[in-house]
Amino acid sequence: MVGAFKIKGGKELKGTLEVSGAKNAALPIITATLIEKGTHILHNVPNLRDIVTLMKLLESLGMETEKIGPNSYKIVNNGITNLVAEYDLVKKMRASFLVMGPMLAHSKEAKVSLPGGCAIGSRPVDLHLKGFEGLGAKVEITHGYVEVKAEKLVGGNIILDFPSVGATENIIMAAVKAEGVTTLENVAREPEIDDLCFYLVAMGAKIEGIGSGKLVITGVEKLTAVEYSIMPDRIEAGTYIVLSAMFNGAIKVKGATRDHIASFISKLEEMGIKIEFNDGIATIECQLKDLKPVAIKTAPHPGFATDLQAQTMALLSLVEGTSEIKETIFENRFMLVPELNRMGANIHIDDHTAIIKGVEEYSSTEVMASDLRAGAALVMAALKVKGETTVTRIYHVDRGYEEIEKKLRGIGADIERIKVEM
Ligand code: EPZ
Repeated sequence: MVGAFKIKGGKELKGTLEVSGAKNAALPIITATLIEKGTHILHNVPNLRDIVTLMKLLESLGMETEKIGPNSYKIVNNGITNLVAEYDLVKKMRASFLVMGPMLAHSKEAKVSLPGGCAIGSRPVDLHLKGFEGLGAKVEITHGYVEVKAEKLVGGNIILDFPSVGATENIIMAAVKAEGVTTLENVAREPEIDDLCFYLVAMGAKIEGIGSGKLVITGVEKLTAVEYSIMPDRIEAGTYIVLSAMFNGAIKVKGATRDHIASFISKLEEMGIKIEFNDGIATIECQLKDLKPVAIKTAPHPGFATDLQAQTMALLSLVEGTSEIKETIFENRFMLVPELNRMGANIHIDDHTAIIKGVEEYSSTEVMASDLRAGAALVMAALKVKGETTVTRIYHVDRGYEEIEKKLRGIGADIERIKVEM
């Protein structure tokens, strides 16, 4: 049996959706509490499966974690008592690999399972490991585990081959207590990385160039545990802005910031959607039937976010004309296409580009979420189409959208969580 959403679509939705704390800022900030002993307090942490998974992993390393409010956690670090992040925990979430940098900073060694088993090979974490070596660590990969050790961590000059978000975060966390100065170039510039840096600086780290492509980190002896509040989730905000456009602007989105998703917003404006941001509230104005097709190419920030690609595809598929989306970050991020086509979309893939021919409307049927953002896109398509649609494997959606059915019911959606045979 798997979890599914039964959605009776075609209803008029109206109201305001409020975004939660950013998953992709919360995850690295939670791992950063491993760097220094003390009592860390984090607020605006979203209630998501991934957060629960990561808290379990931290406990396996010796941390005490406690939920002290609806979106607040206390993490007590009395020292890392176990230097091995086991496969059965890491396999549940690839972001678990972000414990490696902090463990290196705290204990000068770490052993972490390769994310998703050794079938992936060393490729997807090679940039992380190259960064650790740049700080003087020795890296070994044996039996599906990565082991890193360092007599001491020494500041180095590191240039990333690709602005990898995870590699940038892992290397920053390893460098903040390294001896001397580390320069990090061609780093990822996603706002979640800025939030991690602001958190580390609040703990006493010395990081210059936050938000630029180059960071200069001067190692310090000691950090101090602090209280910190996570930034709002810009991807959740973008997801709900797309939903609003599907419903002719009937939904406002609270907690959205234009400059966190500027490329995405400018593409929607190119389609003919008007979006105003006032006091953290996005107001959307558009008529779905008048929107124009566009060509999109995902790119590292500040380019068009790959995490908003699937949601935008679900919107473009209802826009008259031919649009296209080129996915340049992940080699296999078009798993939404066959599911949307089952709902009556007309999309075909040519190499890394999805060619989207707009259709009048979707038809209701049963579809399956393949990943977090594709799952959200299917939920939105199901809300739009008249009739009953079932979206299965919604554990993917639960990874990144806090209480999504409660939020959607709040604007008039008829959505119910059920169990189905798979
Ligand atoms: C982060 O993943 C996000 N996850 C992803 O969000 C997001 O899609 C991605 O960044 C890109 O923005 C979290 O922050 C927890 P990358 P990450 O390292 O760090 C290749 C979501 O929906 N690569 O920037 O894993 C890699 O294979 C999730 O919330 C290497 O080759 O992304 C990929 O093709 C999905 N070697 C590309 O870089 C490396 O050492 C981007 O990966 C590392 C990455």
